Amino acid sequence: MNIPSLGLFHWQETYARQAKYVLAYSNIPGISYRKYQALTRWAVPASFNLNKNDDRGASELREVLCSQYSFSDENVVTSTGGSEANFLVFLASLRAGDEVIVETPIYEPLYRIPELLGARTISWERRFDNRYQLELKSLEELITKKTRLVVLTNLHNPSGVCVRKSVFQRLGRLAEQYNFYVLVDEIFLEGMIPIQSSVFGIPRMIITSSMTKIYGVGGLRTGWIIAPQEVAEKCQLSKGYTTGCSSYLSEILSSHLLRNGKDQLLQEYYFLSQHNRRIMKQWIHQYYHVLEWVEPDGGVVCFPKYQGNMGSEELCLELLRSTGVLVTPGCFFNKEGHIRISYGVDSKLFEASLEALGQGLDTILCS
Ligand SMILES: Cc1ncc(COP(=O)(O)O)c(C=O)c1O
Repeated sequence: MNIPSLGLFHWQETYARQAKYVLAYSNIPGISYRKYQALTRWAVPASFNLNKNDDRGASELREVLCSQYSFSDENVVTSTGGSEANFLVFLASLRAGDEVIVETPIYEPLYRIPELLGARTISWERRFDNRYQLELKSLEELITKKTRLVVLTNLHNPSGVCVRKSVFQRLGRLAEQYNFYVLVDEIFLEGMIPIQSSVFGIPRMIITSSMTKIYGVGGLRTGWIIAPQEVAEKCQLSKGYTTGCSSYLSEILSSHLLRNGKDQLLQEYYFLSQHNRRIMKQWIHQYYHVLEWVEPDGGVVCFPKYQGNMGSEELCLELLRSTGVLVTPGCFFNKEGHIRISYGVDSKLFEASLEALGQGLDTILCS
């Protein structure tokens, strides 16, 4: 089997270590175990059995997810990060020759995995000129008898734009009418103020998420799928072909954090996100001759459009070389003419990065 490299990950791995300022990841600084203990007032007991496993996932985690999101146990599958969650949904849902409609621009694995499994991906454009909103009319033109899945992120990665629940309700009706499911990767959703509720409960919606982006504990690799029962059962079966079961210790650690540390961590996340977004907004007004943006609704990424025809990878390499700032080329989100700038970093560092980035953009794009 030919496994094509994921350009986004390759980009981050190759260049992050060369950069002075890294604005290329979509997460926030992580929390220490000391902070974890202070938040949860819980520590791993010395007698904890490190051999313990549960292929259905730790019941403590399943319980806290069920109570926080208001759904039942048979709808939950725990996973190793959002990455495995998405992979399991694809593995459980697709056969070679099926069609998958994917939002574009898009987080790269969400169209690469269906292609790897032999499905055909069809791009559904979220247009910059329409502020990256979903256009259901254009979706209807893409649906065929072979459509199995429609794939979205909410908040949208790379733009940070939120889709309103009423749009998902209309999408759910289409999904029922044409007999497909909708995968909504909600890994950034809690980064939105006011908090939006998950779209689980609308017909034919499958949700994936994880502890990685908002909570600063990506190293625990805890993720989950919330799906209609018939899909959840297939995802659980598919898990036998990937990890079998996820880290029990991580799931227990995550369950305590969700129960006792969530509010505090969300507040800290909002503060960073809002504060840095204000910095970003002021900066982008200064650079409107080279960059235009759609202001994100939340989260820590945005996806501005730049002037001129230079390729996004070439531009980002030139920016790295001349300024030491690493941002991500739009081509890795299947969209040329844009760069993704992440702002989930220390605010002082962010200001310094933007100053360097602005000068670089001026020099490269205006000379
Ligand atoms: C939209 C989206 N889904 C999933 C993931 C992967 O999440 P995890 O690190 O929990 O596997 C990412 C990471 O960048 C992401 O942006």
